[in-house]
Amino acid sequence: MKNLYDDTKGVLISREEIAAIVKRLGKEISEDYADKSPVMVSILKGAFIFMADLVREVTVPCSIDFMCVSSYGNAATTSGRVKIIKDLDTNIEGKDVIIVEDILDSGVTLSHLIKMLSDRKPASIKICTLFDKPEGHKVDITPAYKGTDVPNEFIVGYGLDYAERYRNLPDVCILKPEIYA
Ligand code: PRP
Repeated sequence: MKNLYDDTKGVLISREEIAAIVKRLGKEISEDYADKSPVMVSILKGAFIFMADLVREVTVPCSIDFMCVSSYGNAATTSGRVKIIKDLDTNIEGKDVIIVEDILDSGVTLSHLIKMLSDRKPASIKICTLFDKPEGHKVDITPAYKGTDVPNEFIVGYGLDYAERYRNLPDVCILKPEIYA
């Protein structure tokens, strides 16, 4: 029987390590937003598992919303732009927004999202990313909350995919190069 783990070089970040990271991020957000009620905006699809776990570690009242964007043009360049596939249901004017992302790679997606959402006049807007790939950065972007850095490898699991697969792996794994070559 086929096992998804067979396509990987092994576990990079285990489910236990992820849980500890998510707990810490939830605590940081809860402390910083002690007197606030943030709108937590998850960027589909990759962040769906992270979002579900993170909000359960946040102890202040918050609301949740989802956005789905896709790159168009040449996403590998800094001029790549993002197109809204599904917009927020919430009016974020005057609200404290936290964008919840699974991974910050080139930074193109998040920098465009920040610009788009800032136009809607939120009271504040911050980024919480579970993973950051510093070697991939093509634009200057600093998340307020960051889980951990990851190496410049193709990682899958815990929401992250390759060709829509592997999102259901509970651990973050490095994909074997022959799978995506
Ligand atoms: C991934 C990830 C981020 C983006 C990061 O999404 O979830 O949104 O890429 O890359 P960047 O920093 O280079 O812009 P993807 O487009 O793969 O869609 P998905 O979330 O549906 O997997």
